Amino acid sequence: MANRGGFSSKLGFIFAAAGSAVGLGNIWKFPYEAGLNGGAVFLVIYLILTVVVCYPIMVGEIAIGRKAQANAYGSYKKLGGRKWGMIGLFGIICGVMILSFYNVVAGWAFGYFLEISFGSLLKQGNYSDFFNSYVADITDNFIFSFCFMIITAFIVVKGVQGGIEKASKILMPVLFIILIGLIIYAITLPNAMDGVKYYLLPDFSTFRAEALYSALGQAFFSLSLGMGALITYGSYISKNDNIISSAAMITVMDAGVAFLAGLLIFPLIFSQNLQPTAGPGLVFVVLPGVFEAMGPFIGRVIGGGFFLLLCFAALTSTISLLEVPVAYLVDEKKWPRKRAVWLLGLIVFMVGIPSMLSQGAVELFTKLGFYGDKDFLTFVAEVFSDVSLPLGGCLMSIFIAVKWKKENFSDEIAQGNPNYKGSFLEKFINVMITMVSPFILAFLFINTVLAK
Ligand code: PHE
Repeated sequence: MANRGGFSSKLGFIFAAAGSAVGLGNIWKFPYEAGLNGGAVFLVIYLILTVVVCYPIMVGEIAIGRKAQANAYGSYKKLGGRKWGMIGLFGIICGVMILSFYNVVAGWAFGYFLEISFGSLLKQGNYSDFFNSYVADITDNFIFSFCFMIITAFIVVKGVQGGIEKASKILMPVLFIILIGLIIYAITLPNAMDGVKYYLLPDFSTFRAEALYSALGQAFFSLSLGMGALITYGSYISKNDNIISSAAMITVMDAGVAFLAGLLIFPLIFSQNLQPTAGPGLVFVVLPGVFEAMGPFIGRVIGGGFFLLLCFAALTSTISLLEVPVAYLVDEKKWPRKRAVWLLGLIVFMVGIPSMLSQGAVELFTKLGFYGDKDFLTFVAEVFSDVSLPLGGCLMSIFIAVKWKKENFSDEIAQGNPNYKGSFLEKFINVMITMVSPFILAFLFINTVLAK
């Protein structure tokens, strides 16, 4: 197909896909989910699900995209017909909804970066109160998330190679360096080792079934699975690329950054004698106090550095979230890329407004009577991410098992990896996708819905 664009190399793809995977999910969400679900116990469950369930699904998504050379909807349609295309369409809708709230949280991170580096945030003292009033303030939220969407759109307009790949190749290594630097500082603080123990030594007596559902939703969200982001990126890679090793590297990078984010945050929390169970406010409430304690200058640099890191991580993810519906409009409706990007950027931003107003600004969105008085942002995150992504993964597995067939799936992977056929890995992936994952995912999906 002419003019769809593509990544320049295998490494370009890996950086972009790892950029999609590594995001707020790793640095903002993972530590607070782990903090709410028993620390090390959560980490163990998360890692097992990542390897056993999510890795094969990632291979599946990339293979579907590369075979079909099309967007999420177009790929399912090409390989399975119009009805199966609905899975892709469902994924695209999830992508739009996820981006709508993701962009709001990214806006908070952007605001924090500016307020810490150049403003007076680190003199506030009570960071819990500060955070609550910050997210309830409409002006800042509006401006910063609007800026974030513009920056995202600006990169996506430049296309796959000139925009997405280029940005990821710069942002990912920078992110890694900032993260390592912060960890070295954190683990040398007094009492930091209590945090390391909480995070690394599992106490299985604290295990609750909810940890399982949270870990699964978290793994899907963090790896960008279940909504077609990797189908879309997979459609931009070469037939000579080795999908097995690329997917392994993306998974390792993503799980690695989540692991490191925990290794940063728990020592910081315990060094301040704080509780790890603060929920979504965790990095915004706990970390500023730590940065303040570093003194005015170092606090600004390290604190600003951390929130800048969060912005970079979020940016390579918002790019991929926007690319999913953009690719759909470009491929299926033959829209010029520019028009698709700017119009979708605007629509997604507007869809995000209720989420933006749901943190105390407007009562109606802050307490949803029909949803157990939870806020609108939580509602969208739970419905379109926690519940829908594992469902999307389940449907993808069923698609490969009953429609595309595992032989065709294996053939696609074997291109670029001649040793694949007959290998242990082929058996493992096929068994997981066609026989095990659909059942595990359906079971967990039903339980997640019941638990919400
Ligand atoms: N994986 C991203 C993160 O961890 C979020 C994301 C989800 C991106 C789904 C694309 C698709 O922050």
